Amino acid sequence: MKKNKFSKNWIIKQKRDVYVKKSKLEGYRSRAVYKLEEINDKFKLIKNNNLVIDLGAAPGSWSQFISRNFNNSKIISIDLKDIEPIKNLVHIKGDFTDEKHKINIKNYFGKKVDLIISDMAVNTTGNKSVDSLVTGELCIEAMNFAIEILNKKGSFVSKLFMGSSFHEIVALGKESFLNVNIFKPPSSRKDSKENFIICRNLR
Ligand SMILES: C[S@@+](CC[C@H](N)C(=O)[O-])C[C@H]1O[C@@H](n2cnc3c(N)ncnc32)[C@H](O)[C@@H]1O
Repeated sequence: MKKNKFSKNWIIKQKRDVYVKKSKLEGYRSRAVYKLEEINDKFKLIKNNNLVIDLGAAPGSWSQFISRNFNNSKIISIDLKDIEPIKNLVHIKGDFTDEKHKINIKNYFGKKVDLIISDMAVNTTGNKSVDSLVTGELCIEAMNFAIEILNKKGSFVSKLFMGSSFHEIVALGKESFLNVNIFKPPSSRKDSKENFIICRNLR
């Protein structure tokens, strides 16, 4: 599909989308918030006082959700883009795959964390296999990072696409975590190959 036709269809879908309307009413920056809410309703991952790392956080609805609903949560986020301030959040503008940022994130808390969430995705090219492969690489990098710095009872959530690296990612998750689930939240668009991997309790 040509890029301008692709963008036109995206705009039409956005206008009709109930989750876009709801997010505007509730003051969230993106409809993506409902994916995290639905994941959390099912798996009960987030608690008050949690130390959280939000990877690929812009425009910030996942961090907003945690900051609003969980008392004393502390969040550090990173994204290629800047984000508007959010209570209890420190944001790094940069590339997560850059080692210096990983070190800064680790040093920020200086101890193991409770939750790492990653909604990182590259700008879609329209070629679903390329998009899923590159986003899969980001997911693997985020998972390896999570394995290093999560509490034993911590959780890791990441976007992933059904595609060539899907089975490799699930297998990697099962090597390091006792509980691994794949979940497509109801608010994730039906025509997208997007899914989420939820990994809990390090082995
Ligand atoms: C779907 S959006 C995230 C939406 C976010 N969860 C929210 O609720 O507002 C995906 C984000 O991943 C970011 N991203 C992609 N590659 C990245 C990388 N290597 N490092 C940091 N952020 C990255 C993009 O800039 C984009 O803002």
